[in-house]
Amino acid sequence: AEPEPHVVVLFGATGDLARRKLLPGLLHLQAAGLLPPCRVVGTALEDLGDDGFRALAQAACERFGRPEVPLEARQAFLGCLRYVPTGAGPEALAAAVGRAREELPGWPRLLHYLSIPPQAMAAVVDLLARAKLVERARIVMEKPFGTDLASARALNEVVHRVFEESQVFRIDHFLGKEAALNILAFRFANGLFEPIWNRHHIDHVQIDVPETLTVDERAGFYDRTGAFRDMVVTHLFQILAFVAMEPPVAFDPPSIDQERTKVFRSLRPIDPKQVVRGQYEGYRAIAGVDVDSQTETFVALRCEVDNWRWAGVPFFLRTGKAMAEGARIISIAFREPPKSMFPAGSGIGERGPDHLTFDLDDDARLSLSFYGKRPGRGMALDKLSLQFALHETGYQRDVLEAYERLVLEAMVGDRTLFASAEGIERLWELSAPLLEQPPPLEPYPVGSWGPSSIGRLVAPRTWRLPFER
Ligand code: BG6
Repeated sequence: AEPEPHVVVLFGATGDLARRKLLPGLLHLQAAGLLPPCRVVGTALEDLGDDGFRALAQAACERFGRPEVPLEARQAFLGCLRYVPTGAGPEALAAAVGRAREELPGWPRLLHYLSIPPQAMAAVVDLLARAKLVERARIVMEKPFGTDLASARALNEVVHRVFEESQVFRIDHFLGKEAALNILAFRFANGLFEPIWNRHHIDHVQIDVPETLTVDERAGFYDRTGAFRDMVVTHLFQILAFVAMEPPVAFDPPSIDQERTKVFRSLRPIDPKQVVRGQYEGYRAIAGVDVDSQTETFVALRCEVDNWRWAGVPFFLRTGKAMAEGARIISIAFREPPKSMFPAGSGIGERGPDHLTFDLDDDARLSLSFYGKRPGRGMALDKLSLQFALHETGYQRDVLEAYERLVLEAMVGDRTLFASAEGIERLWELSAPLLEQPPPLEPYPVGSWGPSSIGRLVAPRTWRLPFER
């Protein structure tokens, strides 16, 4: 379906996410001819006018947007932007949206994008109700959705008082990454892999998302959130569901959501003893961070999907800020052969089991590593690999950034790649033991792979990252 004309009402329009992703993403979509006729009404706490907001958007698009977007397209986009301070109240918001609507053909739909912290969501939902901006509207809610089970339930209730569930789009941008969708294509469009996609052939799975970023520019949000809520409850668990789920009956929202939710129901509650929480050295000195902050900037954990396919196969998850390298990989480690006929010293097993690795970068790389013969005399073995890289194909220019894809999906009302109320509540429920009794924080140096105890978490296995060079 083609999206109808839209007024996008962007809450948190001056925030980090809006500047880094949403404004540059909307610009790119418009320049690529993928957006319907649109106006964007930005709103935030700052007291800006249209021009002030345009200046901010222009700077954001220059800094974070795609350099190839031509000047005319940039100017046309800025011309579509309007601003109203959130504090101006429901009438002012309704009036600004009304004016923007009149500039467009027909009766435009509304897309309310709530790029704001979980604590601020309920007030905005209430504001939308008072401004009577509910009809023909959809609402996109940024993660984290709540901060625990009780707050997620309360938020779902608040939202459902105003919006139908079919109008609600809980966004998790990892679900919109090309490479994440490629997991589904890879698993369910080929006959080769699904037969070995289970406990009989897979030893363990790692979902590893180290980041080199620090949190200086969003310390206030981050210090109230932490790595577990910011990354695991949302992104990593959703990716885990794509790796672990059963084949859906169809590629449609109810079927996919049902299988994802089944994975979440099979996940065992997180055992705090199987979790390492870290904080990078110097974090507490950042402006906006509490001087004795107990917030983790790193988390690694072991979890188990307790069903017939996966019983006994550990899933190791890791993510953190200020780490040595940035990466986003999913690595499937296959079991080693039951018996080796190759002599000791041949090299077999020395470099770990064979792996299938998905790289969630926009470049969507995929590699299969295996043992093969090293050329020359004798029978020495070496780790070889088969690789696929999107940028080496003709597809690269069609790649949509995750937020871009998801905004378009929300505009046509397709909820396949969005999280459901039930799924999210279940994730908070199984996170409760950890949230209630978090293990002590361990410091780690900036530029490292996390606290030293992470080795113990996976032993006798090892972390797949850093890759050997
Ligand atoms: C966001 C988190 O949701 O995802 C950030 O709030 C994190 O802390 C980001 O850096 C990572 O996203 P991506 O697409 O850059 O991997």
